[in-house]
Amino acid sequence: MPESARPETVRSHRIAVIGGDGVGPEVVEAGLRVLQRAAEIDGCFELVTDELPWGSEYYAEHGAMAPPDFLEQLRAYDAIYLGAVGSPAVPDHVTLWGLLLPIRQVFDQYVNLRPVKLMAGVDGPLRDTQPADIDMLCVRENTEGEYCGAGGRVHQGLPIEVALQADVFTRSGVERIARHAFELAGTRRGRIASVTKSNAGRHAFVFWDDIVAEVASDYPEIELERVLVDAAAAYFVTDPGRFDVVVGSNLFMDILTDLGAVIQGGMGVAASANVNPGGGVPGMFEPVHGSAPDIAGKGLANPIGAVWSGAMMLDALGETDAAAAVQGAMERALAEHRTHTIDLGGEASTGQMADAIIAALPS
Ligand code: NAD
Ligand code: IPM
Ligand code: MN
Repeated sequence: MPESARPETVRSHRIAVIGGDGVGPEVVEAGLRVLQRAAEIDGCFELVTDELPWGSEYYAEHGAMAPPDFLEQLRAYDAIYLGAVGSPAVPDHVTLWGLLLPIRQVFDQYVNLRPVKLMAGVDGPLRDTQPADIDMLCVRENTEGEYCGAGGRVHQGLPIEVALQADVFTRSGVERIARHAFELAGTRRGRIASVTKSNAGRHAFVFWDDIVAEVASDYPEIELERVLVDAAAAYFVTDPGRFDVVVGSNLFMDILTDLGAVIQGGMGVAASANVNPGGGVPGMFEPVHGSAPDIAGKGLANPIGAVWSGAMMLDALGETDAAAAVQGAMERALAEHRTHTIDLGGEASTGQMADAIIAALPS
């Protein structure tokens, strides 16, 4: 929008930017360039960003991944845009429990949305699949289950050492994620697959199935199928078209969404949103992939997952037109202009892919 046509008041969104480790800062930088350009073109809102230098380098200097009051600092923002956390130099359970996982838990971001969609122009690894065959929305329970963090180790180093890692499922936790998933299914193709392991997991997953069945009775128009997680993994490859909304526990959906990432083209393509609907706290938007130490610092990382997560952030902030513009530009850059990074068989660098998306934005 030309300067003269700008409205006098623009909506202002404060974004906490945590690039983090490895390729995180690279893809976030590319993503922010796209989002800032989309905001400029839209003209009715601005993104005011603060780059927070937290992660494994911060840990090397301070002995912690972030300052002690980092969650309080983050609470003041409208959204958090995150790259990735994790470095070969620090144990993963220290880095992740020092930064990423407390954000999800303390802000009670109980919904982790992960779209799995084969975009036109991307050749997925599955023979004969077309974009119409892979279009699902994975809804991951994001605060409890296998990730509640309960457990401990006793008698460390002795032959009698014991480690306990408890999975904790609550009625309110399962019910709210199930209800959210049913609501989403109503806005899509009206089908939901609930993924568990209620053959071997005879307590928690039978409980999950019972609660999902109760919630389902409020949504008679939605078609529910129960799928065991091992079978679901196979169907993601052999018959992904059977899935519309897929809901499941924290760990199962963590694993299934890496599989989802690769069937839609690769780890670099997949996006996610961690949100607490109606909770009055910032959501966190991040690609599904990690810090990819094997390709970090080389400009090789695919920024699509970060850009798409950025579009999900705009959507959550109410900037639906700009979100759709970014989504469309990304799809045009891939399909019409055939700009692809190396993981997708092309030659573009991280920055060139972002440039192609920016060029495809409607101005
Ligand atoms: P990873 O996702 O970092 O990498 C797996 C594979 O995918 C690698 O071959 C990598 O090169 C490739 N890849 C990842 N992102 C890519 C991109 N944008 N473009 C092209 N290729 C890409 O998983 P990992 O190797 O298991 O984990 C590395 C570190 O990241 C670990 O410390 C792990 O704990 C952490 N991790 C963090 C997050 C997060 O912050 N959300 C997510 C997953 C893993
Ligand atoms: C993800 C990641 C995280 C998770 C790790 C890094 C703790 O794999 O966001 O998928 O398991 O949730
Ligand atoms: Mn994961």
